[in-house]
Amino acid sequence: MRAEMPDVVSGQPGAGKPDPVLVIDSITRSFGGVRAVDVAHLEFQRGWITGLIGPNGAGKTTLFNLLTGFDRPDTGRWTFDGTPLSRLAPHQVARRGVVRTFQLTKALAKLTVLDNMRLAAPGQTGERFFGALIGTWGRQEQANTRKAMELLTRFQLDAKAYDLAGCLSGGQRKLLEMARALMMDPTVVMLDEPMAGVNPAPTESLLQHVKSLRDDGMTVVFVEHDMDVIRDISDWVVVMAQGRVIAEGRPEVLSSNEAVVDAYLGAYHDQALEFDAEGNPVGQTAVLVAEIESELEAAIERGQDLSA
Ligand SMILES: Nc1ncnc2c1ncn2[C@@H]1O[C@H](COP(=O)(O)OP(=O)(O)OP(=O)(O)O)[C@@H](O)[C@H]1O
Ligand SMILES: [Mg+2]
Repeated sequence: MRAEMPDVVSGQPGAGKPDPVLVIDSITRSFGGVRAVDVAHLEFQRGWITGLIGPNGAGKTTLFNLLTGFDRPDTGRWTFDGTPLSRLAPHQVARRGVVRTFQLTKALAKLTVLDNMRLAAPGQTGERFFGALIGTWGRQEQANTRKAMELLTRFQLDAKAYDLAGCLSGGQRKLLEMARALMMDPTVVMLDEPMAGVNPAPTESLLQHVKSLRDDGMTVVFVEHDMDVIRDISDWVVVMAQGRVIAEGRPEVLSSNEAVVDAYLGAYHDQALEFDAEGNPVGQTAVLVAEIESELEAAIERGQDLSA
């Protein structure tokens, strides 16, 4: 079931939406001389799956990092349900309902599937992690465990609850990442290439799960390079290039826009993320993943809230 698409929404970059949940104004972020994000105005419609597309380096991940508090903009502001979000830390953003997925790091791979879920629950941040290790689970933890098991059942991971997360298949890891995000009861879920490196069969199930988030009333923002997936799943597509929003519209309109496809997507396949048959990153992709892993491990050591 596709979300309803009021005709009042124009396809111009920065188009107004009938009921936007996130509204961004004049947000910029540069690294050295590179303007990674330069978005004048952007609205994400509540209850839609918005596909965010664009070539490598377009600024998609940087935009996610900014919106979820993992990075600070040079200029600009944005609101969530009318409330400014711009100055908040990741766990504060997550607690308000804007949650992104994060990868299963080496450290998290050494925990059970269930403990991965418990760590993603809102509440005491660092204490939670260490409390979990020394076995001081209280009432809240029991509630969290129940909720975790319910979500694991929804994502067909309940039989794996007591297995180490590192033993999961590529597709199951992605399901766990999504399930973990739901521990926060989010309003907005941001998924950055949630299917990268997953084989076709699990991809189909992942897609169904993404659609089910929308059917449960969540707003989904979704970075994906595969245009077939984008067409299948998105209610709306936003195209970024060189930090800017260069087009937005319904998927069927955009994908017939040859200028968009040629100029901004055609080049992608040359430098796609690379994975081996088992879904392990290789080459430059492996370098990137290693960076992300060491960052998340450092966050764990600092006792930071990992749910964001
Ligand atoms: N921490 C950083 N330090 C320096 N430059 C960065 C950093 N993060 C991103 N960039 C640069 O900002 C630009 C946007 O990168 P970003 O990762 O947001 O693109 P993307 O659209 O997510 O690309 P991809 O499709 O490859 O994931 C790129 O030029 C990138 O090299
Ligand atoms: Mg990216």
